[in-house]
Amino acid sequence: MTTSEQATPATPRRSTPAPSRWRRQAPWYDYGGRLSPFKLAVFVLLFAPALWVMVAFPLGWLGARPTNEAIHQIGLWTLRFIFIALAITPLRAVLQWQRLILVRRMVGVAAFAYAVTHLLLYTASEAFDLAKVASEIVLRIYLTIGFAALLGLSALAATSTDAMVRRLGRRWQTLHRLVYLIALLAVIHYWMQSKLEIWEPTIMAGIYLWLMGYRLLARRFGLRGRLSPGWVGGLGVAASLLTAGGEALYFWLAYGADPERVIAANWSLALGLRPAVVVLGLGLVVTLAGLLRSMISTPAGRRPRFA
Ligand code: HEM
Repeated sequence: MTTSEQATPATPRRSTPAPSRWRRQAPWYDYGGRLSPFKLAVFVLLFAPALWVMVAFPLGWLGARPTNEAIHQIGLWTLRFIFIALAITPLRAVLQWQRLILVRRMVGVAAFAYAVTHLLLYTASEAFDLAKVASEIVLRIYLTIGFAALLGLSALAATSTDAMVRRLGRRWQTLHRLVYLIALLAVIHYWMQSKLEIWEPTIMAGIYLWLMGYRLLARRFGLRGRLSPGWVGGLGVAASLLTAGGEALYFWLAYGADPERVIAANWSLALGLRPAVVVLGLGLVVTLAGLLRSMISTPAGRRPRFA
């Protein structure tokens, strides 16, 4: 689901014959038609959660309501893959790891495949009564929102081939910005069905803020899409504060809980690590990794000056 990955194919060496169509399109080959261990590893890993569910289901490891648990597991991985695909652009810039872009389309297509499986499992849980499934999607707002996200993912998956990238030209990038809205709808869908258990949905919302914040700031203050470690650190703190505020607001609006007490819970471990603390930790890890990377890769004196 990228432009740059298709836009800059590596030129094959002159002496090597042009790679066959199969070698160019199979996910584990790079653009020169060579086997890419990195792409192959990611390709295999993308199957792991689905394989786990397929094994756990018949072995009875999914509890008393295995179909329901399978819906949850696959739904969670759909959302995680959408977020991983969204994280590739900022991480590639911060870690100066250009090859990350090679797997973005693969991860995006996997998110779509998991979303379809999630819907199929839901249909199975309704005994394949399609009329009932359709009416539930219309009547239950969280399902309507999930379905809208799935429709969006379908449009992105359908236009993910090299041919579609070429045919759509500049419009391709505009269309694929739809992923920002899809991720937001997915977080809302997750949040709405979670009721009291909003620990992970809140973390996802915080990460979403970080991912969107990075894009906004990089446009204004970045150097070729890369933010300085100061900005990355500041963004982590801001995303964490907004997560804490959002969580307090939710508990106040939904349950009348005192916002001060919800905020204060972030300073204690009595309720485990709170979402804002997790978001802050992730932001700091990315900041430190970016700092280390720029110290390793750029000789002193040649480090880029950020606007
Ligand atoms: C991109 C699209 C979608 C994403 C990312 C997504 C993601 C999720 C996530 C993360 C969960 C919660 C998992 C958990 O609590 O452990 C979930 C639950 C669920 N989703 Fe989706 N979903 C999507 C589309 C859909 C669609 C199209 C349907 C059906 C029409 C659907 C039906 C459900 C149902 C029935 C549940 C479980 C609700 C419950 O047990 O109360 N989702 N989904």
